[in-house]
Amino acid sequence: MRKLEGRVAWVTGAGSGIGEAAALALAGEGARLVLSGRREAPLAELARRIAAAGGEADASPGDVTSPPAVAGIGRFIEEKFGRLDILVNNAGANIVEREWHRLTPAGIAQVIAANLESAFYCVTVALPFMRKQKDGILIHTASIAGRFVAPVSGAAYTAAKHGVVAMSHSLNMEECTNGIRSTAICPGEVATPILDKRPLPVSQEDRARMLQPADCGDLIRYIACLPPHICINEVLITPTWNRGYVAAQARRI
Ligand SMILES: NC(=O)c1ccc[n+]([C@@H]2O[C@H](COP(=O)([O-])OP(=O)(O)OC[C@H]3O[C@@H](n4cnc5c(N)ncnc54)[C@H](OP(=O)(O)O)[C@@H]3O)[C@@H](O)[C@H]2O)c1
Repeated sequence: MRKLEGRVAWVTGAGSGIGEAAALALAGEGARLVLSGRREAPLAELARRIAAAGGEADASPGDVTSPPAVAGIGRFIEEKFGRLDILVNNAGANIVEREWHRLTPAGIAQVIAANLESAFYCVTVALPFMRKQKDGILIHTASIAGRFVAPVSGAAYTAAKHGVVAMSHSLNMEECTNGIRSTAICPGEVATPILDKRPLPVSQEDRARMLQPADCGDLIRYIACLPPHICINEVLITPTWNRGYVAAQARRI
């Protein structure tokens, strides 16, 4: 028996990278998927792949930095399923011009909206379903930049992801009595398209040594399948070849 039969899972940022891998992993456990992102084409293609493998998935596109768009996805979930068991709050983005000497108000607003405001908006839509059910799991793709401060991710992204981690812990504090669990996943480097926005290009050799999207998808599947009395509050997951440590060893400091 697959562990998520009859469960409804909403994955944001499902059109690529970690979100796509999480959707495939949850569908493999029998969950019915709602796939969100701004571009409709990759969501439709992923829904087709899940259906071809015997699963069930709907594309419900939208910009998660827009509260009306997020509310619209919530209405879709209500009308089609009338329940929501799992939110994978995963959409996020960074900008090339991320260092303080290049940051602009527009860049700051874009990064905070894409990583932090969006995460809050999706939680506000997910919680009413879960409170009613007295059951539900929220899994947020934060980042190692949400736990430690380092230059590579830039100030706006680092601050936003720290906010996502704080948001996740606050959910457990307030909602644990409603049977709701929240997990902040803090990955180090994962080989996904977001790396194309790095100020310093990332080689294929380096990408091959990083975590792969399926590694995070499998972690999300594991967390989503845990029995209701277990709450994983936070997970740090990095590649063994951790480029931050490798660089520190090279400097011998
Ligand atoms: N890769 C890493 O090294 C790494 C490490 C730690 C944490 N993360 C986090 O992991 C999450 C997934 O990123 P990824 O690495 O898998 O990169 P990715 O492939 O670029 O995925 C990001 C996804 O988010 C969606 N998205 C971005 N802005 C959106 C918006 N306003 N509304 C709706 N969807 C939006 C994108 O789709 P559309 O463009 O179609 O909207 C895209 O599918 C992000 O939160 C990222 O910050 C990544």
